[in-house]
Amino acid sequence: MALRHLMSPLDMTIEETDELLDLANDIENNREKYAHICDGKILATLFFEPSTRTRLSFEAAMMNLGGKVLGFHSADSSSTTKGETVSDTMRIVSCYSDICAMRHPKEGAPLVASMKSLVPVINAGDGGHQHPTQTLTDMLTIRSLKGRLDHLKIGLCGDLKFGRTVHSLIESLSRYEGISFVLISPEELRVPGYVRDAMAAKNIPFEEVEKLDENTMAGLDILYMTRVQKERFFNEEDYVRMKDFYILDKEKMSLAPESMLILHPLPRVNEIAVEVDNDPRAAYFQQVQYGVYVRMALIMTLLGLEVK
Ligand code: NCD
Repeated sequence: MALRHLMSPLDMTIEETDELLDLANDIENNREKYAHICDGKILATLFFEPSTRTRLSFEAAMMNLGGKVLGFHSADSSSTTKGETVSDTMRIVSCYSDICAMRHPKEGAPLVASMKSLVPVINAGDGGHQHPTQTLTDMLTIRSLKGRLDHLKIGLCGDLKFGRTVHSLIESLSRYEGISFVLISPEELRVPGYVRDAMAAKNIPFEEVEKLDENTMAGLDILYMTRVQKERFFNEEDYVRMKDFYILDKEKMSLAPESMLILHPLPRVNEIAVEVDNDPRAAYFQQVQYGVYVRMALIMTLLGLEVK
């Protein structure tokens, strides 16, 4: 089998993505069937940037499949501090593992690593660029809870400039029919030009607005909230000015459509009030659970494993 990596959600065709999501749903319903498929296999998690969910989700996924994990969770505890390149680190780790998930603050670092790797590499988030496994998580959540990935009106709210999960999700959903976006952000945090161009090239209807109110939420199937990405700001002042720009609370939710699901890649800071957690439309904790199933399906797919 040719070595396959996952750098962007677009590395998979729509058909392959649908198959992967089917597999994830089967795993959800038949956990036992998959409990030993990765016996003897090792996943390396190379996290040069902090993470709770993504790293633990990958580790839980591999353990649920019967495999083992090794890795590090900060650049400080790796040989990067000695000046080792990401390619060399990856070449070395290829000798210790069967598959690798890498997160890095620099855009494109996992791609560079994949070029020297002897095992499949998964981009677990590269700077403000892409986050394909969060997108697969989001897609599995939407498809499982809404029953479809087409004909949806999706609002994305918050830091659309630096939020890599937003970029990956827009690019992926733009491949389905009948998709439209409402992009809700402060002027300074609007989506990057390449994301806007990708939507325009496909004639995807989208509007860019600043307010999160009854009008903006009208007709939305999904509202995808994001935090302001503190670590990617050049100065503290700008961050402080924008961090509480949006707060989704009970009052706002009373103006939102009855069937509008709220998603969030997490971690949340202030953008969703805790009082919203009990609202039946809040799907962000279910989303975390779907993240494990989709990563299990992805590990199996990239390793070419099937349950007979
Ligand atoms: C996201 C990320 O790392 O980009 N978190 C995650 O992986 N679930 C979102 C964020 O950090 O805001």
